Formats: sequence, C-alpha cells, structure tokens
Amino acid sequence: MPLKKAVIPAAGLGTRFLPATKTVPKELLPIVDKPILLYVVEEAIAAGIEDIVIVAGRNKNAIEDFFDRSYELEDTLYKTGKTELLKVVKDIQEMVQVISIRQKEAKGLGHAVYTAKPVVGDQPFAVLLGDEIMIATDGPNVTAQLHQAFEKSGASTVAVMEVPNSDVHKYGIVAVDDTEADLMKVHSVVEKPAAEEAPSRLALPGRYVFSSSLFDHIEALPPGKNGEIQLTDAMTHQAQNQGLFATRFVAKRYDAGDKLGYLQANIELGLQHPQVGQDLKLYLKNLKL
Ligand code: UTP
Repeated sequence: MPLKKAVIPAAGLGTRFLPATKTVPKELLPIVDKPILLYVVEEAIAAGIEDIVIVAGRNKNAIEDFFDRSYELEDTLYKTGKTELLKVVKDIQEMVQVISIRQKEAKGLGHAVYTAKPVVGDQPFAVLLGDEIMIATDGPNVTAQLHQAFEKSGASTVAVMEVPNSDVHKYGIVAVDDTEADLMKVHSVVEKPAAEEAPSRLALPGRYVFSSSLFDHIEALPPGKNGEIQLTDAMTHQAQNQGLFATRFVAKRYDAGDKLGYLQANIELGLQHPQVGQDLKLYLKNLKL
C-alpha cells in the first residue's frame, strides 16, 4: 500500500520551553526564520506524503493560521513589492493538504496519534514528531528511508539511533535480536527505562511508519507510565501481533523540543543560511568563551 498520510503530533504542553510555550506551541518556535513544524512538514512532503494531519492542542489556532491565507500580510507584501517574501508566504499555503485535529488534553503520544484515526482510516501512515528536525544531507530523507524499509519489511517500521547509556532514560528503547541487522525485528518497546533496565541502547527519536492496526492496540491500552497513553505500549502489542521492525537512519537529527537541541539547531542551520550564515560564522569565531 502506498504511504500517503502522515500524522504530526504537536499538542504537548512544551513545559521545557516555558514561559515561551504558554501561548506559542513549541512546534512554532523558529529555527532561524522557519518554525520547527515547517521543517517537519517539508520532510513529509518530500517523502511523497499527500495528507498531513497535525494534532494540535489548546493553541490550535496559531498552527491552523500558519498554514492558512493571510490576506492583509499578502496585500502589504504585494503593494510594497516584496515579491520574494510574498512567494515564501504563499508557498506555505499551497504546499499540501493540512488537516488539523485537536487533542483536547495532553494525555500522551499514543492518545495524540489516536485522534488522527478518523482521517487515516485503514491506510498505513507515517508519524513525525513535531519537535524533531531531521536533515538528510545526501539522499532520501528519514521518512522516505522509512518508507523504503516499510516496503521491504511489509510491517510497521520505525527509525532508531544508538544513544549513550546516560541518555536511554529520555527515550523509548527497543528490544531486538540483532542490533546490527538492516531491519531489526522488534520484540518490545520500553518507555524511558533506567539505563540498567534498558533492553538496548537503540532509541526512538520520533519517525515511524505504522500499519493501521496500531489504532486497535492504542484503543485497548490502559494508561501507562505517568498516567499517559503511551505510543510505546501500543508498539509492543503491534510487535507481538502483526510485527514491528526498526532500522537505523542516515541524517543529522536535532531535538528541537529540548533547549540545548533547539540552540544547536539554530546555530548549525543558521550557519547554512544564505543570508546570515557567513556573518554568524564570523561572529562565532570571534566570540570569546
Ligand atoms: P514531548 O514529550 O517531547 O512533548 O512529546 P511535551 O510533552 O510537549 O514536552 P515537555 O517535556 O513538556 O517540554 C513529543 C511530541 O509529541 C507531542 C508533542 O507536542 C511533541 O511534538 N505530544 C506529546 C502530543 O501531541 N500530545 C501529548 O499528549 C504529548
């Protein structure tokens, strides 16, 4: 089945970015001049996704408005001859079909993904976390890499990366037989384990392709760790019933939902920016630390 739908959860409370995220969703915070969410949407589009479901929370309007027309702004840009900026603004509205759904309470990632069920139906779908930026410098992006792996495995397939022991408690960690295989068969997924209890050091950074049976598993779940409906619990059920595979990806990844990751993304992507890259480089070189 072709992969045409993607779900982008963006309804978390973003507490690590308070007070900024009191009124602005963290997914709309800018990396240089583009919101984090736009990098994620662009990745989905470049991978051939046609329908994007954004799961938003209380600040849903800001996200919807971002992908909507802005008549006053467009008119002003037109009248002042700022045609390049006008194109940037218009391109965003025309890039793809964006459907916004509200997660009324931040009850966990599994719950956020489940809210997209009426739109996704029985199709396979990608999930891209709205605060994770993945830049593939060469070749297909991470969602496209996963799509290829999904076609090979014929079952849900998720991206994993190796993390140091000190970081396993921050991620969902997979239990697999052979950590060196291209496609690793997953037995179970543990949500944020202590280092000594982790089944491996292979962590889920936030890119997945699922078959629709995932929704049935989420539906049947009781609340898990921290009282939330955990995506990782549903993944374990899918692994034990329909099968689940993990694969390593090739890309530079920024955890833009974390302060340090956010700053790193701004510096590294700022250095590549055509307008400010050179000046930023000079500034950093001369910075006395
Ligand atoms: P995080 O755990 O990083 O987001 O979820 P958070 O809860 O907003 O962050 P902090 O820890 O309070 O700062 C990863 C992604 O899943 C979404 C978030 O918006 C983020 O993009 N998410 C999380 C939801 O959409 N709903 C939820 O209930 C939880």
